Amino acid sequence: MLRNKNKYFSTELFVVTDFLIRKMSTMPLDLKGKIALVTGGASGIGLACVKALLRNGVKAVTLADINTNSVEIVLADIEKEFGADRVLFVKTDVTNSQQFENAFKKTIEKFKQLDILVNNAGIYNEQEWEKEVAINVALKIIYQKNRQGPEAVIVNLASIAAIDRFPNGPIYCATKAAVATLTRNFGDISYYERTKVRLLAVCPGVTMTPLVVDPALARKLYPVQDLEGIHQCFVSTASDKMVLNLEGKIALVTGGASGIGLRYAKELLRNGVKAVTLADVSDSFAQVALSEIEEEFGPNRALFVKTDVTDIQQFENAFKKTIEKFKHVDILINNAGILNDKIWEKEIAININGVIHGILLGLENYLFKYKQGPEAVIVNISSIAGLGVFPFIPIYCGTKAAVAALTRNWGTSNHYERTKVRVFTICPGVTVTPLITEISGRNLGGVYEDMLQKDLGGMSAQEPEHVAKELVKLIQSCPNGTVWVIEDGKPRYEYVFPERETMLK
Ligand SMILES: NC(=O)c1ccc[n+]([C@@H]2O[C@H](COP(=O)([O-])OP(=O)(O)OC[C@H]3O[C@@H](n4cnc5c(N)ncnc54)[C@H](O)[C@@H]3O)[C@@H](O)[C@H]2O)c1
Repeated sequence: MLRNKNKYFSTELFVVTDFLIRKMSTMPLDLKGKIALVTGGASGIGLACVKALLRNGVKAVTLADINTNSVEIVLADIEKEFGADRVLFVKTDVTNSQQFENAFKKTIEKFKQLDILVNNAGIYNEQEWEKEVAINVALKIIYQKNRQGPEAVIVNLASIAAIDRFPNGPIYCATKAAVATLTRNFGDISYYERTKVRLLAVCPGVTMTPLVVDPALARKLYPVQDLEGIHQCFVSTASDKMVLNLEGKIALVTGGASGIGLRYAKELLRNGVKAVTLADVSDSFAQVALSEIEEEFGPNRALFVKTDVTDIQQFENAFKKTIEKFKHVDILINNAGILNDKIWEKEIAININGVIHGILLGLENYLFKYKQGPEAVIVNISSIAGLGVFPFIPIYCGTKAAVAALTRNWGTSNHYERTKVRVFTICPGVTVTPLITEISGRNLGGVYEDMLQKDLGGMSAQEPEHVAKELVKLIQSCPNGTVWVIEDGKPRYEYVFPERETMLK
């Protein structure tokens, strides 16, 4: 499975082919007790999806299908495998909005809720193309007020035909491209924030179902897959994200006594976090920070632990003191960092070793053991310097690229499943703090300083409060292992690394 480019977290496009099935690295939404509605669910990929959902904890599924031919057999088959009352059949032609709405009503009447909609119904018939368009584009995007958990999910079945060329079926391709486009637009963050309905499109490769008219020819022309691949895909995609409730959580912010780190601490407190630990080398910054926090949020909302992140014992002490005082710890922001290529060994020690210390202590031990809710979060602070080219500070750039790489490798599903710690990175652009205002001279000197003076003036700067606001939204909901840019005071966007395999010539 190849996770494809998209800058908005509520919309994703997944390509599923036989040779590219990989487990997604995102945090699982608990499917237990959820209710799903699958259009075209009585056969083929739809039925495979129904079974995959039931197998993975979904309580019951409505099959909304126009085809009643083999329904009795399908229902008996499901009852045999999963027991009674796990499925409802509602005869539905999705091109008829009343019939479609009826399927929703009947589902809620019987199961009292609806959490997952799979818009799977579709045909391949170039001769009857008007019908093909009507069915494949008739996607019902509904704000589900009856969901059980914090969010609902709509999965739209597109196809690799949406992104590839299949000259035998140009109209089919166009309908599937429409499905992908609808998903990307209705999946815009502005809809998600209002509805908490997450949209994603799945693009299966050639899959052996009755939709494939000539299986022998298909096998000759394309890599084909059986339904097992689709099973895996539905489970991992429908299990994607959930919203972390910040209420009552405890956060530890390194370098949190000033600069952007202090803004993260305050923004977290503003959004329900109970208390923060500021783990910083500077006593003097900390005294000011503690009194500012007390003034805005009242007593007992912050603890200062003098910490140099390059010293793992001091870092561990910050965790121990946090747990001693607040009893748990849920969020770690590995923010401490310096920009000074002149003292590059120290820069590497703080920016890279400090982050590794945080991940080792947090992911393997303290967050893993002492989180309060179902999951904990580690945010590693990188920079646009870790993604782009800034020749006047090459070593700083290297340290920040390392932070992104650490995140992508620790932010994988195998680590998540083991620890329930979600890891992601943000890359702020130029932000007004002493790190920038005092940048001059903190480089290898000579030509490096000349380049700095020439290049930096052209870059626009943002306020640290903006970075903090965007980060807090990501802490609440963003996929594991992802990298986000926050620059120029604009909304965050995901930085998607190209898949090496796609560059094969
Ligand atoms: N300001 C920017 O433009 C910008 C842009 C992208 C990324 N960043 C990153 O954001 C993070 C915070 O930067 P900032 O701009 O707030 O810098 P800052 O210099 O204003 O604040 C850094 C804080 O880290 C603390 N610190 C330094 N060394 C430490 C150590 N060894 N152990 C613990 N604490 C230590 C300092 O005392 C200070 O409180 C850094 O990782 C930086 O690389 C900054």
